[in-house]
Amino acid sequence: MANNLHILILAAGKGTRMKSETPKVMHTLGGEPMIDHVIKKAKMLKPFKISIMINKSLSGLKKIYPDLQMLLQEPQLGTGHAVQIFQKKNKLKNSKLIVLYGDNPLIDFYDLKNMNEQLAKNDVVIMGFKPKINTGYGIVVEKKGKVSEIVEFKDASAIQKKIKTCNSGIMAFSSKALQLVTQIKNNNAKKEFYLTDIVKLSKKYNHKIKLINAKDAKTALGINDMNELGIAETIMQNQLRKKAMKDGVQMIAPETVFLSKDTTFGKNVKIEPYVVIASKVKIGNDVVIRSFSHIEGAVIKNKVSIGPYARIRPGTVLENNSKIGNFVETKNSTINKNSKINHLSYVGDATIEEDVNIGAGTITCNYDGVKKSKTLIKKGSFVGSNSSLVAPVTVGKNSIIGAGSVITKDVPDNTLALTRAKQKKVKLNKKKKKK
Ligand code: UD1
Ligand code: CA
Repeated sequence: MANNLHILILAAGKGTRMKSETPKVMHTLGGEPMIDHVIKKAKMLKPFKISIMINKSLSGLKKIYPDLQMLLQEPQLGTGHAVQIFQKKNKLKNSKLIVLYGDNPLIDFYDLKNMNEQLAKNDVVIMGFKPKINTGYGIVVEKKGKVSEIVEFKDASAIQKKIKTCNSGIMAFSSKALQLVTQIKNNNAKKEFYLTDIVKLSKKYNHKIKLINAKDAKTALGINDMNELGIAETIMQNQLRKKAMKDGVQMIAPETVFLSKDTTFGKNVKIEPYVVIASKVKIGNDVVIRSFSHIEGAVIKNKVSIGPYARIRPGTVLENNSKIGNFVETKNSTINKNSKINHLSYVGDATIEEDVNIGAGTITCNYDGVKKSKTLIKKGSFVGSNSSLVAPVTVGKNSIIGAGSVITKDVPDNTLALTRAKQKKVKLNKKKKKK
């Protein structure tokens, strides 16, 4: 049978409860926007088409995901209204639809797969879950073991509020059930068109309704405010650490290590306590990352040691056997094989060739207040401590920069360059005071 699965991700809501200028689904989790997590999971189901319901502030997504159908919902009159817009546009007849929520980023792929399988035999599939406390979720009401309706928390009676099974928001429909979306009304506490009302309507038409439960209630968490975002981040970090450790990464205090969804590790990687690995970091084999280091947007090859207290910024490439010591910051720089920056340095917009030793306190002065310039330090050179290399500047092969120099001109190969003032000797004529 041809693939007739459609997925619609609802992301047009205002997200007022976030109290943030950033659209809700663009807030990050494990370094990636929430919406990206949802899109990735949607893609894993290999649907025929993915659509996203957006508002004006999300129009930037069109460029990032040109292959997805972007539908604008303006004004936002509720989740049911969003699906009405989708159906008006797509007029699905012999298809199935899974609706995902953009603020539900932790949802488990295997639960979605299960939902898709159930959809082959049913008209409506609801993914329920049992949270410890219902913080405002829709309630799944069952009568004689069969789902009769979903009641939004605000509209629920005191008795209904005692029901444990809640609506994760993830629902799936046969096209037969989907036709009922036009009948959804907004006669409720929020005066919104609730997608969840389709359950009651399906019941009326004797459609087959199936309730499945998320295997782990944590993965069904909906994110409506910063508190829930924080809770979700904790869950995500635990998942990322677990996965990294299962893949062989050693962590002494895993709870103090923060990773990103896209962090990749080679073999034999050790991470000491209190390390942050932000997005776009690739780590090779035999790497040690010492305490209190922050790494972002960097490629770290094999047999590299970083930190403690190192800041590796975007555009850094640390080649095999290189070493970054304490209080060293690098940015947009390549440190080639066997080169070392062991202490207290800033290396930005620079290429450090092989076998270079950068002494303590070396600064590449890459910014003159107007533009950024590059520094090149060739093979086998030695930069003495507390030197300033005023870019653009090149230090030739096997050269030495004397400690405390300010280098403003290129240094040829095999040369000692010094800009240090001569040391004077002045004899003091101090008389010791007698008491
Ligand atoms: C919704 C469900 C609730 C469920 C909960 C799970 C409804 C009516 N309620 O409540 O049963 O327990 O999620 O987290 O569906 N959106 C639009 N257009 C709109 C309104 C919302 O695209 O007009 C999007 C939002 O961006 C969001 C999602 O739909 O991604 C859910 O909307 P939200 O307002 O957060 O619904 P909840 O109150 O959490
Ligand atoms: Ca929500």
